[in-house]
Amino acid sequence: MHTPTFRRHRILRKNKNTLALTSETEIRLSDFIAPLFVEEGSKVATPIPSLEGHYRYSLDKALYEVEQLMNIGVVSCLLFVKVGEDLKDNQGKEAVNPNGLMQKSIREIKKRFPELVLMTDVALDPYSIYGHDGVVANNEIVNDETIKILAQMAVSHAEAGVDFVAPSDMMDGRVSVIRSEFEKNNIHNVGILSYSAKYASCLYGPFRDALDSAPGFGDKKTYQMNPANRREGVKEALSDVEEGADIVMVKPALSYLDVIRDIAQQVNIPVAAYHVSGEYAMIHAAAEKGWLDYDLAAMEATLSIKRAGADMIASYFIKDIARILGVRS
Ligand code: PBG
Repeated sequence: MHTPTFRRHRILRKNKNTLALTSETEIRLSDFIAPLFVEEGSKVATPIPSLEGHYRYSLDKALYEVEQLMNIGVVSCLLFVKVGEDLKDNQGKEAVNPNGLMQKSIREIKKRFPELVLMTDVALDPYSIYGHDGVVANNEIVNDETIKILAQMAVSHAEAGVDFVAPSDMMDGRVSVIRSEFEKNNIHNVGILSYSAKYASCLYGPFRDALDSAPGFGDKKTYQMNPANRREGVKEALSDVEEGADIVMVKPALSYLDVIRDIAQQVNIPVAAYHVSGEYAMIHAAAEKGWLDYDLAAMEATLSIKRAGADMIASYFIKDIARILGVRS
């Protein structure tokens, strides 16, 4: 029997068409979730310096931005709001205000774009005087009191018309409490995208600049995960599936591809990854110095996240990807 001494791997890389034919991973604009930052006012677009090309919009401008995104084939947005200092407290009172900026934004955006898959961040940090994701007592973040508030917050978003709530706080049991609060309130068609494996990462810096939500004391290591742990990410995701999550998410993305892979192999629901603000900023900074090619780096990072097993990606690169793919509105 003939035994080949070596294999001709390069046959499949002969030209751009063999490459296209044999590509295992594809990027589509419908795979993306577009983060969107909203602030009070009208006709406002405040640049976010550490997130180049991104702005905090007043609601009128945010509507225009959603329209632009939908025109290029994006189907989903994830809303964050910047809350005035005077509205912040320890309990996140403003977070459950039915006429708060978040709830108002949900109503307006869904009225104009009923087909958009609208998601909202659920955590107390933008509303907290301490910049923490939960209620603070004796320098600790109190779990069980926090999840009750998060569930009310989720219900208020659902009542305003959101499609998915995205709890990003990493308190224990919040998916379960949100799900049962939905049932109690006869909310049957609002999903939960849970930030399941969210790590205590240094890569959220630019985002915290955008919302002015950096922790006022300490850090988030008693609730967000230890970057050293891989199996624990799977444990968190499996527990969220049991509690009733519809989508699980890993965050950040590029430094946690192993976790994305493990979770994608072990759950039977869609897996999302959040390609976070610091990951975006790193590529921008290096490209600005001329040390790497911006477009190639953006594509390679995005492709790698999908290849690892993410079904969808929350990303600040969406418009760049559309431009690179040659998509026109
Ligand atoms: C709020 C929240 C954060 C991000 C998403 N939701 C910041 C944090 O946990 O400190 C980070 C997103 C990004 O960096 O792009 N809990």
